[in-house]
Amino acid sequence: MESDFLVIGSGIAGLSFALKCAELGSVVVVTKKKDVDTATNLAQGGIAAVLERDDSMQSHVEDTVVAGAGLCDAEVVRLVVESGPKRVRELVALGVDFVRDQESSSGYSLGREGGHSHRRVAHAYDLTGREIERALLEKVRNHSQIRLLEEHIVIDLLMVEGELEGWHGGEGKRCVGAYVMEGGVVETYRAKITALCSGGAGKVYLYTTNPDIATGDGLAMAFRAGAEMANMEFVQFHPTCLYHPQEKNFLISEAVRGEGAILVGADNVPFMEKYDPRKDLATRDTVARAIDKELKETGEDCVYLDITHRDPEYLKKRFPTIYQRCLSRGIDITSQRIPVVPAAHYMCGGVKTDQQGRTTIPGLMALGETAWTGLHGGNRLASNSLLEAVVFADCAARYCRSVWPQLQEKKVPDVDEWQRGEARKMSEEILINHNWDAIRRLMWNYVGIVRSLKRLALAKERMAAIYDEIDQHYRDYIITPNMVELRNISLISLLIIQSAMERKESRGLHYLIDFPEKNADCRQTRFCKKKNGRKWEIEMIEEINR
Ligand code: SIN
Repeated sequence: MESDFLVIGSGIAGLSFALKCAELGSVVVVTKKKDVDTATNLAQGGIAAVLERDDSMQSHVEDTVVAGAGLCDAEVVRLVVESGPKRVRELVALGVDFVRDQESSSGYSLGREGGHSHRRVAHAYDLTGREIERALLEKVRNHSQIRLLEEHIVIDLLMVEGELEGWHGGEGKRCVGAYVMEGGVVETYRAKITALCSGGAGKVYLYTTNPDIATGDGLAMAFRAGAEMANMEFVQFHPTCLYHPQEKNFLISEAVRGEGAILVGADNVPFMEKYDPRKDLATRDTVARAIDKELKETGEDCVYLDITHRDPEYLKKRFPTIYQRCLSRGIDITSQRIPVVPAAHYMCGGVKTDQQGRTTIPGLMALGETAWTGLHGGNRLASNSLLEAVVFADCAARYCRSVWPQLQEKKVPDVDEWQRGEARKMSEEILINHNWDAIRRLMWNYVGIVRSLKRLALAKERMAAIYDEIDQHYRDYIITPNMVELRNISLISLLIIQSAMERKESRGLHYLIDFPEKNADCRQTRFCKKKNGRKWEIEMIEEINR
């Protein structure tokens, strides 16, 4: 398979980039399950942008920076915030039906979420992600230059010797596509530009709001190929995931708190005022940690979100999915409290990119949750992720357009076919399934919302052993999608653990009981990459104050 662009992932970042690059050349989008199996599709809240007359760019910038706990890249924040309104209007032009409100100066009904000092979240009730995914997929499916391939899982990047003019890094190597497996067969998919848009890694943790696809594939592949990574210790836990034995990952949107819901304990007493003057609309790091503390102190299994004081008809209209889903579990949100717990939600670190979406490997871009752009810092502001994805998809496509006259003529070099070697079929699937559980439990208990150096050290030792075992299976047996994902989550777990051990302070989403305070002299973003000749060990390569 050969194309001009290979896009890995079919969420908002991948589809937006694909549509823009299809104006230049042929695009192949691969996705490992169905096209709609993305984190985008599950996003409820919406997309933050300055749309109202009484809001301002400065205010959105400040809210982002405050949430980011001193680690946001100021230039990137401004770039993203200032591009916001244009990108939202572009989504509307592509067919996204955000809820309107003729009374407001923007013409849209805007929601509010934690950390925002204004209503600025454009939404499609609590189905915003699904609406965006629907509109983008419709365009992509009907585009003659784009092939969208489902059930195609990417195993690793294709790397060759060589450079790309004006794109530094890679130590003499560049990316020319990926090994892709479909139905047990691995093929080479060659491309001039490869874009990792495969989302985050919530499946690293036992409890997550993420879909099953979130196994950090793009992050792991980039790391193995030698890309620089940033801030992998900053994993965002969403404070309110529905707590119910039959529910795996159902989010109760922060927009519910934006519309007045209050967190209470089993005793019905609100508790957020003890933790933050912004109470229930504090940023997510604060709220998730407060819930964690309440649960540990009271020994209860969950806390509750109470919105019963709002008009039932309004709630049914504003949150149709949440209302129906809770009702199907016997909880009527108009008259009953919603049981909730925090769950892993978003990876704020990622593959380091510049303002054009370029990683440190020539030919390889990263967008959306897979990327670290500098926007989120130590804690992402609610509803800034869909925004970041569309803004950087646009920046990356503009870069491609600028170099297309030179790149278009270049031939993609031949690469070695996938070698199956002596690998045989694995007869004991339990070897895989056991480790899925072991990894996710270990990460939840030892590397969760509140960390300690002791637990991190133990986690590292155990995870390294698990990784080595999986890596051996990977070599001995014919690979399966399950094995590919397991190898990736064990690697990403190790990156989170090692990065967490390096940051000896508490800041944003990273809370270490051994160092409970921010280190004022250490406003550093940390970059790392694979240590030479090692499989998972990291080497810190640069620390910057922005
Ligand atoms: C939510 O609706 O609470 C999630 C939105 C986000 O993650 O930004």
